[in-house]
Amino acid sequence: MKGACILAWLFSSLGVWRLARPETQDPAKCQRAEHPVVSYKEIGPWLREFRAENAVDFSRLTFDPGQKELVVGARNYLFRLELEDLSLIQAVEWECDEATKKACYSKGKSKEECQNYIRVLLVGGDRLFTCGTNAFTPVCTIRSLSNLTEIHDQISGMARCPYSPQHNSTALLTASGELYAATAMDFPGRDPAIYRSLGTLPPLRTAQYNSKWLNEPNFVSSYDIGNFTYFFFRENAVEHDCGKTVFSRAARVCKNDIGGRFLLEDTWTTFMKARLNCSRPGEVPFYYNELQGTFFLPELDLIYGIFTTNVNSIAASAVCVFNLSAISQAFNGPFKYQENSRSAWLPYPNPNPNFQCGTMDQGLYVNLTERNLQDAQKFILMHEVVQPVTTVPSFMEDNSRFSHLAVDVVQGRETLVHIIYLATDYGTIKKVRAPLSQSSGSCLLEEIELFPERRSEPIRSLQILHSQSVLFVGLQEHVAKIPLKRCHFHQTRSACIGAQDPYCGWDAVMKKCTSLEESLSMTQWDQSIPTCPTRNLTVDGSFGPWSPWTPCTHTDGIWAGV
Ligand SMILES: *[C@@H]1O[C@H](CO)[C@@H](O)[C@H](O)[C@H]1NC(C)=O
Ligand SMILES: *[C@@H]1O[C@H](CO)[C@@H](O)[C@H](O)[C@H]1NC(C)=O
Ligand SMILES: *[C@@H]1O[C@H](CO)[C@@H](O)[C@H](O)[C@H]1NC(C)=O
Ligand SMILES: *[C@@H]1O[C@H](CO)[C@@H](O)[C@H](O)[C@H]1NC(C)=O
Ligand SMILES: *[C@@H]1O[C@H](CO)[C@@H](O)[C@H](O)[C@H]1NC(C)=O
Ligand SMILES: *[C@@H]1O[C@H](CO)[C@@H](O)[C@H](O)[C@H]1NC(C)=O
Ligand SMILES: *[C@@H]1O[C@H](CO)[C@@H](O)[C@H](O)[C@H]1NC(C)=O
Repeated sequence: MKGACILAWLFSSLGVWRLARPETQDPAKCQRAEHPVVSYKEIGPWLREFRAENAVDFSRLTFDPGQKELVVGARNYLFRLELEDLSLIQAVEWECDEATKKACYSKGKSKEECQNYIRVLLVGGDRLFTCGTNAFTPVCTIRSLSNLTEIHDQISGMARCPYSPQHNSTALLTASGELYAATAMDFPGRDPAIYRSLGTLPPLRTAQYNSKWLNEPNFVSSYDIGNFTYFFFRENAVEHDCGKTVFSRAARVCKNDIGGRFLLEDTWTTFMKARLNCSRPGEVPFYYNELQGTFFLPELDLIYGIFTTNVNSIAASAVCVFNLSAISQAFNGPFKYQENSRSAWLPYPNPNPNFQCGTMDQGLYVNLTERNLQDAQKFILMHEVVQPVTTVPSFMEDNSRFSHLAVDVVQGRETLVHIIYLATDYGTIKKVRAPLSQSSGSCLLEEIELFPERRSEPIRSLQILHSQSVLFVGLQEHVAKIPLKRCHFHQTRSACIGAQDPYCGWDAVMKKCTSLEESLSMTQWDQSIPTCPTRNLTVDGSFGPWSPWTPCTHTDGIWAGV
């Protein structure tokens, strides 16, 4: 065991060494290539911003069902904004009362922490379900979406919302009214759980204080897909016996799980999880172990994820894409099982390889679950690791830590293109074209600055509205709206084509850079997207002429694939 550990350590350090010393083909030629940057000044005319006095931490954004309003959760505030121009429709203060604050201070928490940080913001029909940390006494309210001061109900936020604003959590509301929340359930944050409540089904949770179920997890996201609810998170790897390592996971439960009898009472009987692999292939793969953000494309059943290295090691991020069917396949495969705490983790054949969620008959569960309860208690972790759609990540960047992502599927002239928007920890959005084929690489198209020069802060939330091609960004002191199609920005044909932007093409009739919808005729609409744009650095301030593409690896910190 020890030998294997040392070997593993050696390999992983080797990986870091290789990461730190990229091999550049022709350093002199490639050195000055840099991706285009859209400065705050340049994006200014396109940008809409919303600020409110005393409101900070714009960390939750959602839309009303009619997609006319943006609903915003900030510290001690809820807002409704006009989607079009981010003008204020309604502002509601939601503060903790003095007694709650005092109790919070007495537990040794700071003034900063003893506030109401909104952490759950979900729309269900004409209601808004929202929870806040409320000075370490989480609370949830159900409000009218058309009038946020109208409170229909107030319930405890325990097991629905974290106590601490630092804790990462996720929640969703199903069409039938159940709330699924993944969060720390207690004040110190030692009792994490995936918990179902509200609705008509019995409340269920993951087994308490059992590291095989959840081991110091950081929850990232959750989705309601078919018969299951999926959760994405990172946690300490219980199956890894050489020191502390974090792995990323996909987990799922059946939505119609009603828990066990005698065994697994009030506990999931269908909880399973699998590791996600996002790594740079090589003799020794370099692992991006820590999931930070996901984006689900339901039409394609694809999950995009941002994975990073550990905070204590060299910074690097990658985007990997997972097929939902590959995740399901892992759940139908063997389990990883440990007989007792001293024995090794071994594969164990799946007793229900064609597992289906239980069925209902006239409102009664005929088969509560096809899983035997002993099995359900024993087998949690899948043996197989879910591999991404392509072995090489869709995008990689050294010295970066991305936090959120959103994906748009764009109709280009020749093909559908996936555009990935990545939020950086210094207040910019990187716009990346995903690889056009298995054998090509991705491109960093541009980086949009959301702050004037020399100001930076992390991005708190990112939401895309596909129907209107806009991106909403939540920051510490404001919300910003960015239109995704900004073709008029490019004045000349060469600038338009050179931008390599799948949203834009040169309309030869109008003599303008336009989007596909704006163009008069597809045959007169010219676009080129297979190569990557670079900025001419000798031109100060704005874009210079586009230089021809050169196959550089690692210039500009990016690595565009094979
Ligand atoms: C919103 O609800 C509050 C509380 O029920 C009520 O006092 C107020 O008049 C309502 N506002 C509007 C615009 O209906
Ligand atoms: C929550 O996630 C962020 C981003 O990865 C991380 O910096 C932070 O430490 C996490 N919070 C906790 C309590 O682990
Ligand atoms: C959901 O589960 C039911 C009963 O097990 C099954 O018949 C149905 O095909 C499942 N639906 C999906 C989308 O998998
Ligand atoms: C992860 O993917 C890499 C690249 O394809 C592969 O070499 C490695 O074996 C995989 N690791 C696991 C644990 O599946
Ligand atoms: C996802 O998997 C399904 C089933 O194996 C397959 O038909 C589909 O093409 C895959 N999608 C991608 C993008 O690889
Ligand atoms: C219930 O489960 C049993 C054994 O797994 C199976 O034979 C039976 O067909 C199931 N009943 C229904 C209605 O699915
Ligand atoms: C950059 O722009 C300057 C001035 O327009 C020009 O002289 C130079 O050749 C350009 N360099 C490249 C690499 O295109």
